[in-house]
Amino acid sequence: WPHCTYAQKNELLTEKHIREVMQQAYDRFKNTSGGANASYIPYLADIDPKLYGIAVCTADGKVLELGDTKFEFGIESISKVFVLALAMQQRGPQAIEDSIGVNATGMPFNSVLAVELDPQRAVNPLVNAGAMATNSFVKASGSAAKWSMIDDLTTRFAARRLSVIQQLYASETATNLHNRAIAWLLYSYGRFYGDISEAVDLYTRACSYGSSTRDLAIMAGTLANNGINPVTKEKVIEAGLCPRILATMMTEGLYDNTGSWVYHTGLPAKSGVGGGIIAVAPGKLAIAVFSPPLDKSGNSVKAQKTLEFMIDELKLNLL
Ligand code: DON
Repeated sequence: WPHCTYAQKNELLTEKHIREVMQQAYDRFKNTSGGANASYIPYLADIDPKLYGIAVCTADGKVLELGDTKFEFGIESISKVFVLALAMQQRGPQAIEDSIGVNATGMPFNSVLAVELDPQRAVNPLVNAGAMATNSFVKASGSAAKWSMIDDLTTRFAARRLSVIQQLYASETATNLHNRAIAWLLYSYGRFYGDISEAVDLYTRACSYGSSTRDLAIMAGTLANNGINPVTKEKVIEAGLCPRILATMMTEGLYDNTGSWVYHTGLPAKSGVGGGIIAVAPGKLAIAVFSPPLDKSGNSVKAQKTLEFMIDELKLNLL
């Protein structure tokens, strides 16, 4: 592997070269097969598995797009990152570590065992258990007030107001019994911090946001740019929170496949069962890729391959 100095690495990040690498990735992987759409949420099973989009948002505000980047799909678990940002902004990083947990679970995203095995009942905010607990940890007076906080912060991250896909929200609400069970289990251990049905409902609603690949690139770009939205230039969260949020992505962003992901890419990332994945190169750029078919951990097959290729070509690996 050829050695590359830091200065040479930065030279790779011209708009022209990023566009070339996006195109190479697109051509290389557009016909990649393998994986299957999520089927435990009926709405997701029906999305066209051939859709494929790549978007980059640079820390200085350029948004580059290729493929189906305007198609709006379920944000799903990627929403966990932004509800964590809200809870961390309100409560501080220490409270997240103490009351939710920040270690890797090494388990599937909806694992009950992860809760059972840890003596503190600590679960990372990016798995279902920790994300629902994080939602319950957001301070607000009632469900409507909490939703408007989530919605406002999401809007500031995305540089536009996202809409909930009502059909997806209904589909998830009708089938989220397992999540409700996890929330009750955490509650039984004193690790849930608000009304259970309210937090599970708001968690489910946030997972049902429709986001495009472009939206996700801008949201992740804000994390790459110390909490300042690179497009609107608005300060969305305190800069000091970004490393903590990115650390949870580094430990748990792709669930039980996170170790392997970091081994290959050295970047924090987050997937959703809608088929999106975001990856963040701090201070440089963020990449979002969308392709619905998933591997057995619930991560998009094609998005992982695309990101690995681009991160390698652009020499973005932090490690
Ligand atoms: O709660 C769930 O199961 C879904 N709403 C989100 C799961 C998810 O996106 C896991 N991701 N890769």
